[in-house]
Amino acid sequence: MKNDHADWLFDESTQVGVDYSDSSVVADYDNQHKGFRDFEAEADKIASVLNLTSASTVLDIGCGTGGLSICLAQKCRHVYAVDVSDAMLDTLKVKLEDQGLKNVTPRRAGFLTYQHEGSALDAIVVSIALHHLPDFWKQIALCRLHDLLKPDGKMFLADVVFDFDPRTYRETLEGWLGGMRKLAGAQMADETIVHIRDEFSTWDWVLSGMIERAGFQIDQTLDIAPQVRAYVCSRSE
Ligand SMILES: C[S@@+](CC[C@H](N)C(=O)[O-])C[C@H]1O[C@@H](n2cnc3c(N)ncnc32)[C@H](O)[C@@H]1O
Repeated sequence: MKNDHADWLFDESTQVGVDYSDSSVVADYDNQHKGFRDFEAEADKIASVLNLTSASTVLDIGCGTGGLSICLAQKCRHVYAVDVSDAMLDTLKVKLEDQGLKNVTPRRAGFLTYQHEGSALDAIVVSIALHHLPDFWKQIALCRLHDLLKPDGKMFLADVVFDFDPRTYRETLEGWLGGMRKLAGAQMADETIVHIRDEFSTWDWVLSGMIERAGFQIDQTLDIAPQVRAYVCSRSE
């Protein structure tokens, strides 16, 4: 894709919503998420649905502090861990150093600017990150991810996605927030408010259409938490 740095390109280096470039947010990220997520179990599921093996090369884009990248690295040959936030990547780098993990390459870039250099990609993982782009740019990002994969490559895309009667939005969102408060505490509920108000989570029927327009086939969907859906996709073109 040409003109990656044209004046009209969406500025993905500026965080939208929760600010993952803020070191105090980043310092809290793993503790917050460990309260309601199990990265090992998520990586096991991803490895299983993507048929990952010790020979696989994976791109984890929007990797954050690398909770998934590190677990996937224990199952795969190599993981490229990409994020726009230096603060998130710095936390990942400390973990890699502490654990002596050599098969994870952290890189600073985003969905719209990442240029892959290295082994061809068997799989791409996007976990709770694509919603940082508005819909127009999500479509461009999905096309770019599609084109990065080997012809028989697969993608696991998980995100907050809405799939309810739009006329019930007040009670559905209030119910979701109440559930987050119980499951993950007041701070995650506050972040969920920011997510709804300022970030760009979209409707299932919009996102699934974009995934298919990018040239993927959706092989399976998994509802992994309230309002969180994963799409297991393969290149169809
Ligand atoms: C909610 S965190 C998810 C982190 C990780 N994937 C996980 O599952 O825990 C969202 C991440 O997306 C990153 N991000 C935001 N905009 C991005 C973009 N345009 N390209 C790549 N990453 C982006 C943020 O910096 C942040 O680390």
